[in-house]
Amino acid sequence: MGHALRTMVEDVSMRFAWTSQLKGRSIMSNHTHDHGHHHGHGETPTQVLMAEHELILEALDALERRVAAIRAGTPPDRAYIEKAVTFLREFADKCHHGKEEDLLFPAMEKAGIPRTGGPIGVMLNEHAAGRNYVKAMAESIPGIKKGDKAAARTFAENARNYGALLAVHIGKEDNILYPMADARLTPAQQKELASCFAEVEENIIGHDKHEEYHRLLKELETVYLA
Ligand SMILES: [Fe+2]
Ligand SMILES: [Fe+2]
Repeated sequence: MGHALRTMVEDVSMRFAWTSQLKGRSIMSNHTHDHGHHHGHGETPTQVLMAEHELILEALDALERRVAAIRAGTPPDRAYIEKAVTFLREFADKCHHGKEEDLLFPAMEKAGIPRTGGPIGVMLNEHAAGRNYVKAMAESIPGIKKGDKAAARTFAENARNYGALLAVHIGKEDNILYPMADARLTPAQQKELASCFAEVEENIIGHDKHEEYHRLLKELETVYLA
């Protein structure tokens, strides 16, 4: 790992650990006033994806605090953890990682950036690792419902690993992979990609669904603060 990347990764890890830094940013207010229509207003594809990263980091920030409480012995809030798993599966994985894997990465490959042995391969491996963590979180839920403490610990451990993985993963994309895409994809290719993203939003995910993610994220954050 080069020095620049190491520094960047440390920055991102710090940011994840020092979650209070996320407070005071106006991410949610930016995204609530327009009812989720934050895509397609002349944004580049990587800008769209970076805006999604902010939402994912918000959810992970809320989850991290909740998980710290579970590790300290607070019984897990079952409704909360189910909502968190739903958000991570639906928004982070299906919506966001879906756009990367099905649209951005193939476009980058077409532009000559190899899939294996390079950053795209690393990103794909990290998506797969993330899916395993979320799967383990989901699988611990029935045990948690029965009051099994080991299941709560399993949930907390996997949530923490997932958060740490994603924070670093997002840092690599924002600072390395996306700038590479910006540099290698022509303006026409980027425009095409942005319109494919908008199509995914409208036809595959759907407007209602997106609103639901925003509501869910807000809930994940406010439940903790209540
Ligand atoms: Fe990714
Ligand atoms: Fe991403």
